[in-house]
Amino acid sequence: MEISLYYSKIDPSLLKVILALCVSSIEIEELVRFLALKNLQGDHSNEQNSSGDIQKKLDVISNEIVIKHLTQTKCCNILLSEENEAPIVLKKESKTQLYTVAYDPLDGSSNIDCNAPIGTIYSITPNEKDETLLGGNQIVVAGYVLYGPSTELVLSVNNTVDRFVLSANKKYLHVGTIRLNGKKKIYSINEANSNSWNRDMKNYIDGYKANGTKYTARYIGSMLGDVHRTLLYGGMFCYPADKKNPNGKLRVLYEAFPMAKIVEDAGGSAILGNNSKQRILDIVPKDIHQRTPILLGSKEEINKYSIISKL
Ligand code: AHG
Ligand code: MN
Ligand code: MN
Repeated sequence: MEISLYYSKIDPSLLKVILALCVSSIEIEELVRFLALKNLQGDHSNEQNSSGDIQKKLDVISNEIVIKHLTQTKCCNILLSEENEAPIVLKKESKTQLYTVAYDPLDGSSNIDCNAPIGTIYSITPNEKDETLLGGNQIVVAGYVLYGPSTELVLSVNNTVDRFVLSANKKYLHVGTIRLNGKKKIYSINEANSNSWNRDMKNYIDGYKANGTKYTARYIGSMLGDVHRTLLYGGMFCYPADKKNPNGKLRVLYEAFPMAKIVEDAGGSAILGNNSKQRILDIVPKDIHQRTPILLGSKEEINKYSIISKL
């Protein structure tokens, strides 16, 4: 079933916003398919974005595409992008419910030039009072589009997580609902940082490597690719705090919140770690580019952290 039919009963303004993000992703995926042929690999300039990363050409173009389509809906008041230092405040042109979209237009930038999975991540939150720092529990829709072997959209609407695959005639078609009950034993973390990990994280990962466990490691380095595999196969993904990065790396509003919502709605858990089992969605953001440590995955795997770190 096509996405607009699948969600025909939700608020029409919300559906408009979802469809604008679908159209954006279709435009981005057309570029992704032919990056090298269109001279779209490489850095945009030497300029850094608000998180201190060098922007890739595709980061900048993807951001422009998303802004264009969301502005056209007239259903958004504020956009929060990884690639814009400040919130983008849109003109109010309709009296319908207005939404704020927080998004990472292109996640996994370091994988662009080697043709590994990359994607777009977002959350949609009703926003009556033009606030810029909305909490994770107010999010009504979270989603990501994975530009991988297939282009796949994963959306959490009404607390249910569904998968849609882009067809040859450019329509997102429903292919299933996700419950995080995969049985594969996988841990996913950048082990190059292990010398900087705190004791809790060393013990947690050592537990996965102990003799006799059946775990294997997988790490793409694109959060949405690693989380997608976790949702479908099981296991856990983390980007923890460490001695070099006490706040972790991933950003609260447009990486951690949407992925935490999707994982929780699929039956898993997403917590801070760093000796806290606070839910990611309970973070009260103070800055639009704030970072957070994150551990997410099946309840079973995340519980292991609480036990090992004796929370
Ligand atoms: P972005 O490309 O949007 O800046 O995000 C990159 C993030 C995330 O996708 C991934 O999980 C993480 O960076 C990987 O970081 P390391 O290379 O430090 O492992
Ligand atoms: Mn990202
Ligand atoms: Mn990005």
